Amino acid sequence: MCTFTVKNNQSNFRHEFTNSLSCRNEMPEASPCDHWSAFYQQQSILEPPSAFARFVAESFLQNENQSLKLSNVNRRNSKKYILDVACGTGRDSLFFAESGYDVIGVDLSAQPLVKDQTTSKSSSWRFVQGDMGKLHLIQEPSCFADPEFFFDAIYFRFCLHSVPPDVQTAALRYAHTKLAVNNGVLCIEARSVKDDLYGKGVRVGEHAYEATTKQSPAHYRRFIVLDDLVLELKQLGFSMLFVGEQNGWAEYGNEDPVVVRVVAKREV
Ligand SMILES: C[S@@+](CC[C@H](N)C(=O)[O-])C[C@H]1O[C@@H](n2cnc3c(N)ncnc32)[C@H](O)[C@@H]1O
Repeated sequence: MCTFTVKNNQSNFRHEFTNSLSCRNEMPEASPCDHWSAFYQQQSILEPPSAFARFVAESFLQNENQSLKLSNVNRRNSKKYILDVACGTGRDSLFFAESGYDVIGVDLSAQPLVKDQTTSKSSSWRFVQGDMGKLHLIQEPSCFADPEFFFDAIYFRFCLHSVPPDVQTAALRYAHTKLAVNNGVLCIEARSVKDDLYGKGVRVGEHAYEATTKQSPAHYRRFIVLDDLVLELKQLGFSMLFVGEQNGWAEYGNEDPVVVRVVAKREV
């Protein structure tokens, strides 16, 4: 069991990580993740962390000038807390946990690899089953419900393009409420409208297509317009620390998609 305590002037908060899986929170009646369930079933080993996880860790979590010293919460310990939204197998969660952070990974479906990894590899990683559009309904672990607990980083990798715009907005709005002011970082990487896969399959919404994959006859992808994402983030109260769009950042097998990357901080 890994326990962490957060203290501020008014009160003490004690949150507990346990290795025992898992918390199940509000779930949709039908999972839209058939593609991912089938995809993960085929994986027998955990893949290495993404290039984005390394980029975030090197550029925004370890930099002395941008180190995540909390200004709004005076913590007793020096632990940093990361929320990995739609963590998948948890490969990036594990990377952050092994780099010294306490990590909570949330995903719509609990994958076998997540269970293996969270139970055996790291006591600093907790998995929670939940919908990124309903993060506000998650009650366990208690830091979710604690209005005075804030994450040092909230991380969305390759998931915003998996959900409709209203789910994206709900997730980003939640992230704004739970990110530490000033030094917390919101980290996003997602497929761009400039990706070669854009326009493939059946159009089901603005910039959204359902395409046949090996795992699913109708895999949903909503490609991201960088300017729209940045505008939405600004309207929610974030300011941008890094904005980029290119290929070469998320190579996977034969694929080299054009992706958007945004790192932002929360304004008061
Ligand atoms: C491309 S995978 C990315 C996994 C991981 N972030 C990574 O980079 O390796 C997309 C993930 O989003 C999850 N997902 C899709 N819709 C979701 C939702 N509404 N709430 C939570 N997770 C969701 C899927 O289950 C899948 O694990």
